[in-house]
Amino acid sequence: MTKGLAMRGTWKALAAAALAGVLAVSGCGGGDDGGDASQVEVFSWWTGPGEADGLAAMQAHFEKTNPGTKFVNAAVAGGSGTQAKAVLASRLQNRKPPDSFQGHAGAELLDYIKAGQIEPLDSFYEDNNLKQAYPQQLLEQISHQGKIYSVPVNIHRSNMLWYNPKILEDAGIDGPPKTIAEFITALKAVDDRTDKVPLSLGIQWTADHLLENVLLGDLGTDAYNALWKPGADWSSPAVTKALTDFAEIMKYTTQESASSEWQDAAKAVVDGKAAFNIMGDWVYGYYVNPGPNGLGKKLDTDFKYAAAPGTDGTYMWLSDSFTLPRNAPHRGGALAWLKVAGSKEGQDLFNPKKGSIPARKDADKSLYKGYLEYALNEWTSPDTKLAGSFWHGVYASNKWHTDIDTAVGLFLQNKDVAKLQQGLAAAAKNSAQ
Ligand code: GAL
Repeated sequence: MTKGLAMRGTWKALAAAALAGVLAVSGCGGGDDGGDASQVEVFSWWTGPGEADGLAAMQAHFEKTNPGTKFVNAAVAGGSGTQAKAVLASRLQNRKPPDSFQGHAGAELLDYIKAGQIEPLDSFYEDNNLKQAYPQQLLEQISHQGKIYSVPVNIHRSNMLWYNPKILEDAGIDGPPKTIAEFITALKAVDDRTDKVPLSLGIQWTADHLLENVLLGDLGTDAYNALWKPGADWSSPAVTKALTDFAEIMKYTTQESASSEWQDAAKAVVDGKAAFNIMGDWVYGYYVNPGPNGLGKKLDTDFKYAAAPGTDGTYMWLSDSFTLPRNAPHRGGALAWLKVAGSKEGQDLFNPKKGSIPARKDADKSLYKGYLEYALNEWTSPDTKLAGSFWHGVYASNKWHTDIDTAVGLFLQNKDVAKLQQGLAAAAKNSAQ
């Protein structure tokens, strides 16, 4: 697993090397079908509107195909796993793991691997013919020292702008902003010419999410990706400029929303209360899924989407995957769950509801409509550049992630760009230790 991968080409080379290692050791590691299959406790943070629909679809499929195994949903509320990860850490610490837990491909997964908390799944991959089902670059992000450690269910895109076309029209903005400078001009126009909130934001982690988008939009893909490599320069004038823009953009959000989740912030756009929201494409599932969980909204009428300003042509990706914890109490149940999570059927039931595209390469394309058709095309286009989401596990370890969150939390209080930059530079430096 390697930090800071920029382009598909780089990924391919690294993945080939990793795969060679994987093949050399296949046969080792976990993956027999033994163990208690009476139940499976599945741990995630998919409880809220939108997210829960995807999980429910996969759960229903699991229950149908595994009638003898009781499905126990151990999801802990809180977008992006803010609460769940803390609960999980203490369960793992106390050696009371769930049977399978959600972990992001990339640096986040590496934490669990290095701590010896999850088992390799090479035999499981062999038995289920999974290696050829996934893109090699994704296998690389779930492998360490030649072994594969999780089963990805999806690919999400973090750098998405959701907007209310009517409010843009009222503000005299003739389309989604294409650069960060245009974005700031558009936010000002909404502020000056309408009584709407220019940019909806929620709880603190949604500001972290916004930060990764502004860094990518301002710095460009290569410079953004370089930030996550050892020894990267977080003190550069280019980073100062991006953080200054971040501070400016934050002025157009609402302070009173600071206790609301991503769903509330996204809903403000389709309710006609806010012009823009920057959030991952889980928003799409929430917008279009039918009630009571989804909002049952229509693309192009109730909302539109574009790549976040300055990021068109780049997929800031992340992937949810499921693991086999060491000493999972119901190992047989866990393996049965992983089998569903890794299957084409499971992924094609889960992803259209979740607002993501399948991690597998053989999706039934006809199921992915509207935004999801666009997402699949972008993901598979050879011209698309890749960037990893730091907030959603790809580039930053859990510690680095927490340190950045602390720096952002202080910034929300003091609004001091120089201190934010110092905090981020220190977080990067400490991540190397
Ligand atoms: C991400 C996760 C997504 C979605 C989102 C909001 O970290 O990968 O699947 O759940 O958080 O909660």
